[in-house]
Amino acid sequence: MKRRFAIAITVLCFGFIATAESNAVDTYIPGQAASGIGSSRHNLGYLPGRAGNNYNSAKSNFTCNGCGTGTSEICVFCHTPHHTNTANNLKPMWNRGTSAPTSFTAYGTTIGGTTVVNTDIGSTTLACLSCHDGVTTFDNIVNAPGKGGVTAGGSDRGYVFSDYTGIVSDFMVSARVNIGLDLTNDHPVSVVYNAGAVAGLRSVNTTISAIDLTSDLNTSATTYDNGNLTKNYWAVKGFISDTATIADLLRNNRVECSSCHDPHFNNKSWNEIDPTYALGSADLEFESNGLFIRRVGGNTGSGVCRTCHEK
Ligand code: HEC
Ligand code: HEC
Ligand code: HEC
Ligand code: HEC
Repeated sequence: MKRRFAIAITVLCFGFIATAESNAVDTYIPGQAASGIGSSRHNLGYLPGRAGNNYNSAKSNFTCNGCGTGTSEICVFCHTPHHTNTANNLKPMWNRGTSAPTSFTAYGTTIGGTTVVNTDIGSTTLACLSCHDGVTTFDNIVNAPGKGGVTAGGSDRGYVFSDYTGIVSDFMVSARVNIGLDLTNDHPVSVVYNAGAVAGLRSVNTTISAIDLTSDLNTSATTYDNGNLTKNYWAVKGFISDTATIADLLRNNRVECSSCHDPHFNNKSWNEIDPTYALGSADLEFESNGLFIRRVGGNTGSGVCRTCHEK
């Protein structure tokens, strides 16, 4: 996390941190791992024995400080090496109970005439929604840490989670991050990518970094976020890539949550939204993870949208 150094230097030089997030510049380069989950709010683990601070990452809004004697594991809240939940083709190595596809209301029919029904809802979308549906608890896991035991399909473990202000909850509280069971009010997910036919969708073979996102804009926009609009690098298969194609964003030729988000990528490059993260504000905001957006530079200049849609 090169940006961490930038922040540290900023703090040393100027002696304050309130706006440190907004000062940092992007340093992501092709080939670098899309990492940082440990210091993101997707780290729900607890660091036993860390007196006065229960947070494993110190950046997470929720940490499991009531997991028996506590677990510092990170991946276990989503993945396990054995006894995974494969219902509804859940992937990858999924360690959580999920709402059934029939619990959701799928997007329905688009202007282009493409229809998404509940049974279309794809595995990685179900995976994300196993926390972001606002119903399933964070501790609804199959294979508990260590000798904690296995419950096929997952079960609520009765763990206690708390946020950094001490608020206790084991499911999504903030309305902002609660996507819910109704998917009609979200960008279509589990929708087939009908390239060249509807919604101005580019060919799946399009090399993402070759897409021109700048010539329509004022030239000053090309300097946004250290030139990210010009570069259009995305995190794909765990690495920042300048060779990925749109096909790499799709799962079974469909758009899923993980087309636009990588849940492991603590994306520090979306400088434009950093000022919207206020330390200790009432809605539990604490740390910018760049909304785990796959695109370096986030959605600056609507670069995420215009990567698929030639608009
Ligand atoms: C908050 C849930 C969550 C946590 C925690 C999590 N993952 Fe994942 N992981 C996912 C989801 C969802 C996918 C599927 C993403 C996709 O479709 O690209 C995935 C995919 C992967 C993949 C394959 C795709 C890729 O991008 O490499 C690997 C490897 C992986 N995870 C490893 C890990 C490891 C190791 C940890 C712990 C350090 C971890 N994950 C923690 C949700 C999570
Ligand atoms: C194990 C539970 C869990 C799973 C599974 C999970 N998340 Fe999250 N996610 C969280 C928690 C907890 C937060 C922080 C909630 C808060 O701040 O109130 C969060 C926050 C987020 C945020 C906001 C980050 C920010 O910078 O504000 C995004 C975006 C997000 N998750 C996307 C996803 C996507 C996409 C997936 C699937 C690829 C996913 N999550 C899977 C638990 C999960
Ligand atoms: C087509 C791309 C795309 C897809 C698909 C997508 N997201 Fe997002 N998501 C975004 C963008 C872009 C943002 C940032 C919006 C903003 O500026 O606040 C975002 C924001 C979020 C947030 C933070 C809410 C907010 O606005 O502050 C959460 C949580 C989230 N997404 C979860 C999900 C989940 C879960 C799914 C699957 C059901 C999903 N996303 C599918 C692009 C997408
Ligand atoms: C990974 C590719 C991808 C990305 C990124 C993406 N979209 Fe889409 N979008 C699609 C697909 C596929 C459809 C379905 C089109 C159809 O079949 O009619 C769609 C549909 C839409 C629709 C039409 C929905 C309807 O009911 O007709 C709108 C509006 C839209 N997207 C806006 C956005 C915006 C805004 C963003 C950025 C936040 C975005 N898209 C990012 C692939 C993408």
